[in-house]
Amino acid sequence: MKSEAILIIGSNGQIGTELAESLRGIYGTNNVVCSDLKLPAIETGPFEIIDILDRNGVYAIIKKYNITQVYLLAAMLSATAEKNPKFAWDLNMQGLFNILDAAKEGLIKKVYWPSSIAVFGPTTPSILTPQYTVMEPNTIYGISKQAGERFCEYYFQKYNVDVRSIRYPGLIGHKSAPGGGTTDYAVHIYHEAIKNGKYTCFLNEQTTLPMMYMPDALRATISIMEAPAENVKIRSSYNIAGMSFNPLEIAASIQKHIPNFTIDFAPDFRQAIADSWPKSIDDAEARQDWFWKNEFDLQKMTDDMMLNLTKLYKQSV
Ligand code: NAD
Ligand code: SER
Repeated sequence: MKSEAILIIGSNGQIGTELAESLRGIYGTNNVVCSDLKLPAIETGPFEIIDILDRNGVYAIIKKYNITQVYLLAAMLSATAEKNPKFAWDLNMQGLFNILDAAKEGLIKKVYWPSSIAVFGPTTPSILTPQYTVMEPNTIYGISKQAGERFCEYYFQKYNVDVRSIRYPGLIGHKSAPGGGTTDYAVHIYHEAIKNGKYTCFLNEQTTLPMMYMPDALRATISIMEAPAENVKIRSSYNIAGMSFNPLEIAASIQKHIPNFTIDFAPDFRQAIADSWPKSIDDAEARQDWFWKNEFDLQKMTDDMMLNLTKLYKQSV
């Protein structure tokens, strides 16, 4: 078993729930401390209540467990952030500073902090968006992620902080619920298809966005954290790609399992956020530097989601 002491902050969320399980499988349950604002529904190992904005509280937990690596997942996502921009900025930025400073002061050795496709904006080339391009995000979430990327690179260059980051596309999984993003529809649609046979989508039928199945996202996350430092050449954040689809295409993949499934459309404020983001991503640098490669396309993901969610709903009746 590998010897690290890992702290996940924001572990009750969509990614944290699954990442904790994967990291505990690799590093051992007691070497992965989970933390969030509230206790999880089910505790599966060491857990601490942490508010990322309480710097002293975070430092105390890092010292208590001799933490070597922090995965910082606590943040406000795109849709929720537009409703509370000032607090979203404070949470997303101050949370990151608290962890980058802990690394700068030598309390921890390595930091993982996720960025997002939201760093791109309406002036970015939207097809196969390259790693280096125009970046003028027009959402508070995207602005905070872009600023966060600049600070990650700054702390690496000035203070030698070993920080690693990925620009996740929209993430889809069956083990946890999404937490207030614009891509959440691509999780809700499966649940509604199985429960009700129909879904009303808050984005319009032409909205193509970059997406990724959770097992690919977890593999990418752990790969970049385990890569030799010299392979991680980009210290802002890496583009990674999985698949791209619009609501009609995901609906068609579900209809292969539920032929009578129907979708209709009632776009809301999230349409404008989605319209500002890329349709597809070029991830050549991640493929070259730390050998990233996705495994799931749309139909393979849908087949797995339908299998697992159908089982879940059968068990719960
Ligand atoms: P989520 O909203 O599901 O989970 C975030 C967790 O952070 C929640 O459990 C919440 O209780 C916790 N949290 C909030 N404020 C906190 C605080 N002050 N102190 C401690 N914990 C706090 O989010 P997620 O989808 O798991 O995303 C995790 C990270 O990945 C975020 O930085 C997000 O921007 C990024 N990301 C996610 C996606 C996606 O599709 N899920 C895509 C791109 C980037
Ligand atoms: N899935 C995220 C969101 O929609 C993208 O960062 O906010």
